Amino acid sequence: MAKHRVPDELMFLVNRRAVQKTTDAPLTGKVCVISGATSGVGLSAARRLASGGAHIVLVCRNHEKAEGVRRELAAQHGVPVDIVIADFSDLDTVRRAGEVLLRDYPRIDVLINSVGLHSTSRILSPAGFELVFCVNHLGPFLLTHLLLEPMRQSAPARIIQVNSEGHRFGGLDLEDLDWKRRRYKGLKGYGASKVAQLLTVWEFADRLKGSGVTINAMHPGDVRTNIGNNNGPLYRWWLHNVTWHVLKDPIISGEALYYLAAAPEMAEVSGRFFHLTIDEKPAAPALDRELGRRVWDLSLEMTGLFRVPEDREAGR
Ligand SMILES: NC(=O)c1ccc[n+]([C@@H]2O[C@H](COP(=O)([O-])OP(=O)(O)OC[C@H]3O[C@@H](n4cnc5c(N)ncnc54)[C@H](OP(=O)(O)O)[C@@H]3O)[C@@H](O)[C@H]2O)c1
Repeated sequence: MAKHRVPDELMFLVNRRAVQKTTDAPLTGKVCVISGATSGVGLSAARRLASGGAHIVLVCRNHEKAEGVRRELAAQHGVPVDIVIADFSDLDTVRRAGEVLLRDYPRIDVLINSVGLHSTSRILSPAGFELVFCVNHLGPFLLTHLLLEPMRQSAPARIIQVNSEGHRFGGLDLEDLDWKRRRYKGLKGYGASKVAQLLTVWEFADRLKGSGVTINAMHPGDVRTNIGNNNGPLYRWWLHNVTWHVLKDPIISGEALYYLAAAPEMAEVSGRFFHLTIDEKPAAPALDRELGRRVWDLSLEMTGLFRVPEDREAGR
């Protein structure tokens, strides 16, 4: 009997149960910058990368929490661990963190952006951006841009944006990024930020072609972290009493990020979306390259970057 093919849009259901790839390739001495490393996916990645010998740079908003992570990693793995402070809801602090990183690290081998949140209500950042869009997309977009040059100098180097299957919720409307005209819905706001990030990953990948720097996005699994804890009591009750039981240990996210950051077979793979470690086709809106070019331009404008040298040279 002919086997039914699973439609592309549902492959994440297959991939979440698949055996994931791993690697033992070391990262000894490699400078790995990780945002959102005080909790959940980013923390798990920091632990796994430190166990592989990496020099870890934590980009975090809370110095006390980051200091706890620094002490743990240094004690358990004996690797250098540094802290750079940035609040991704305030892009000026991300810009300053970029300046510190440029000044202090002549080489950066790996950048992992795991910073993120999910909000059930519409909140605006100090500069007036919708908070989830700002923290999940604009902040990582800005940090990635600021580190492109040292990463080019350090090539081969790898960038990994922690994205989400939540991009399938959609919600991206370039005419209403701040949700002034629509009623805000948490899943849609989250989806919008993740679609925007995916679209810019393809744009980054095009611009980085031939540079030795790769960029990919990944879904870190459905894992037990602090995400959503900023929301109201009903949401938190649901999260901890219902969803919690089907979520997995974020150790799988750290292992997958290690694979993407260190596996020799990943050295030249760029511009892809991975469900943990499995290459997967994203939802249609995240593959709309015309929309992607508009998101790219808007993101440059919103982060105050305007045009990058590659675009100027190419007359874009
Ligand atoms: N958990 C999942 O099942 C899942 C599924 C798909 C995708 N993801 C993605 O995985 C990434 C990490 O999320 P998580 O699940 O690990 O959640 P988490 O445990 O809440 O970790 C989020 C991290 O982001 C940091 N962060 C949040 N807002 C920030 C801000 N304004 N400035 C600087 N740092 C900020 C947090 O810092 P503090 O410690 O200071 O709060 C924390 O380090 C996110 O991009 C999320 O969308 C998670």
